[in-house]
Amino acid sequence: MFEVAEKYDATMGRWSRQLAPLFIEFAVVRDGDAVLDVGCGTGALSSNLVRMTGAAKIVGIDPAEGFIAAARKQISDPRVTFEVGDAQQMPYADASFHRALALLAMNFIPDQPRAMREMRRVTKPGGVVAAAMWDNSPANELIQCFWIAARELDPNLKRPSNVPGSNGSAEILSKLFGGAGLTALNVSPLTIPCELASFEDYWRRYLTGVGPIGVYVVALSDERKAALKEQLRENLFGNRPDGAVHASG
Ligand SMILES: C[S@@+](CC[C@H](N)C(=O)[O-])C[C@H]1O[C@@H](n2cnc3c(N)ncnc32)[C@H](O)[C@@H]1O
Repeated sequence: MFEVAEKYDATMGRWSRQLAPLFIEFAVVRDGDAVLDVGCGTGALSSNLVRMTGAAKIVGIDPAEGFIAAARKQISDPRVTFEVGDAQQMPYADASFHRALALLAMNFIPDQPRAMREMRRVTKPGGVVAAAMWDNSPANELIQCFWIAARELDPNLKRPSNVPGSNGSAEILSKLFGGAGLTALNVSPLTIPCELASFEDYWRRYLTGVGPIGVYVVALSDERKAALKEQLRENLFGNRPDGAVHASG
């Protein structure tokens, strides 16, 4: 699902780059902070931390070697290091960071409660542990319209991002934080405009196999793929000609 950095950057990475500044503001990163970017991927959050903050040290950790290689190539600021590693067992001493931040990463970590406990362990007392995930509610137009069309063709479909632990709501995410003993929880919706040039632009991103929707689409037969594409086009455009897709996520 997450291997080829170029594919990721062209699909989900574009939203991460938009979301990162909002997430950084939410986590109130201060000058001199040591910040951990958990599940850093290709470095969308770290690059914005470099650009926007006076953090003294930024460490990105992710098990995907290709992503870490891409992040190292793209970001050369001396404050930043990227390491191949697992959020469930991090090689950092207790209380090493002022901020431990996970941008769109929590869902993809097998044992999320364990990762959350690790994020707490490596964060200094009084510091901030924060995670942002896609909203699974109808408010998230970008993702919602895909699964509505998929379910129209397959009423028994179990939406992959709707399984327990998908963190698609403030309540579920809050439970994860509370379970790790974190207190003084603060929840905020972060909304970005998701603009796509055309229907083809929208559809193409799913053919790369990136993310839960990409995985679902590439596993379909050609026939079902074509039917789903048509259903989506109809739901989004009806009889109107193809054009830009404006959604919020
Ligand atoms: C949707 S991507 C988000 C990447 C990046 N934070 C961004 O916003 O672009 C999810 C990331 O979680 C990472 N991931 C999966 N399992 C992980 C684990 N056990 N520990 C840390 N990261 C993990 C994946 O490799 C992937 O880079």
